[in-house]
Amino acid sequence: MRYSEMFIPTLREAPSDAEVISHKLMIRAGYIRKLASGVYMYLPLCLRVLRKIETIVREEMTAAGASELLLPVVMPAELWRETGRWDVYGKELLRFRDRHERDFCIGPTHEEAITDLVRREVRSYRNLPLNLFQIQTKFRDEIRPRFGLMRGREFIMKDSYSFDLDEASSLKTYAAMVDAYKKIFTRCGLTFRAVDALTGAIGGTKSHEFQVLAESGEDEIVACTKCDYAANSEKAVGEKCPRCGGSFERSRGIEVGQVFYLGTKYSAPMKAVYLDESGKEQLMVMGCYGIGIGRTAAAAIEQNHDERGIVWPLPIAPFHVQIIALESAGEPFRVAKELVQKLEAQRIEVLLDDRDERPGVKFADADLVGIPYHLVVGSKGLKEGKIELKERKTGKVQKLAPSEVVDTLTTMVHGRS
Ligand SMILES: Nc1ncnc2c1ncn2[C@@H]1O[C@H](COP(=O)(O)OP(=O)(O)OP(=O)(O)O)[C@@H](O)[C@H]1O
Ligand SMILES: [Mg+2]
Ligand SMILES: [Zn+2]
Repeated sequence: MRYSEMFIPTLREAPSDAEVISHKLMIRAGYIRKLASGVYMYLPLCLRVLRKIETIVREEMTAAGASELLLPVVMPAELWRETGRWDVYGKELLRFRDRHERDFCIGPTHEEAITDLVRREVRSYRNLPLNLFQIQTKFRDEIRPRFGLMRGREFIMKDSYSFDLDEASSLKTYAAMVDAYKKIFTRCGLTFRAVDALTGAIGGTKSHEFQVLAESGEDEIVACTKCDYAANSEKAVGEKCPRCGGSFERSRGIEVGQVFYLGTKYSAPMKAVYLDESGKEQLMVMGCYGIGIGRTAAAAIEQNHDERGIVWPLPIAPFHVQIIALESAGEPFRVAKELVQKLEAQRIEVLLDDRDERPGVKFADADLVGIPYHLVVGSKGLKEGKIELKERKTGKVQKLAPSEVVDTLTTMVHGRS
């Protein structure tokens, strides 16, 4: 992909309303633009990052036995009245009326919709367990939207919902989801902790949050120094570990995911039942599981940046390699284009900076945008038979012969095989 053809509107300064580093850098590096409070446009580089995170989420959810569907964003009020949440959800639920004066809302979460589907379609114990997920735009009219994609009003979430025969089976699904989430955030290249959590507006009796460790995090988490107990400090109220009496170590985190054991909180009021082996009606036992796709991208930046810009973890970077052609014509440009072809043939994603800009501008933008590897191709280097490979994270530079570049980068991007 050519830089000159991609839309990457970088800025020297961050807007004054950007408080946290990920928000500042996403604006400055041309990843997002604000349309209204808490409502953002995802520009091309950002979309590539979101798609990478979504792919990892999809693969791990599918591997854990969940199947993907897509529910409507718009939901009729009747369903929300059945569970009582039309009244208790408050102002975060964006409501509107259609031309026939019927009440609707924009989904902030989808327990009602999915339970309606499953209660109509699933009859027998033979069809359970069932775990369904979607990756979809949500709307929550947050009282204080801020920090860019971290706390928007409109945001992309992976949400999933499980339906089991009984509590024991549902808790097994819950444990499988905890495992899948650990794989997902590990594959995203993040440092995180799974902690005990309160259940809030979603409800249920057991919950874990996945917290990306970062100073700017809105949550405080405590971890026992003696055993493996860890919790959101909203949940762990005392000064000592409830399991072993050990003392706590405190840190800050960004909640990127949360899982809930719901029991029959939704299946009871909505009468989601199945017939057991003896033909008797039983309530389905549910769980629900969410991951903020945009918030995960923002949390990755909070954890991985320096004074010059973003430093993406390789698995979710918009591209693997940025080629900086110091001259946008002649031999360096020809070599750069050839490298693009050869690298792409190895499934390496390349952004070629072909702009007619000063080298200083290209270097500064490359550091800001945060692609993990930079190749510098210039006529001076080529005369010595060298191309520079820089690792964005460490700043380490290697001088390679043009013939070595593809093999070296293939190993770095895909590992030895
Ligand atoms: N306003 C938001 N902007 C971006 N992502 C969000 C927002 N609200 C929730 N998410 C993401 O969706 C996931 C699942 O939603 P959940 O209902 O657990 O959120 P929540 O606990 O209400 O979030 P918070 O406590 O941060 O408001 C969260 O873990 C988070 O990653
Ligand atoms: Mg949550
Ligand atoms: Zn302990």
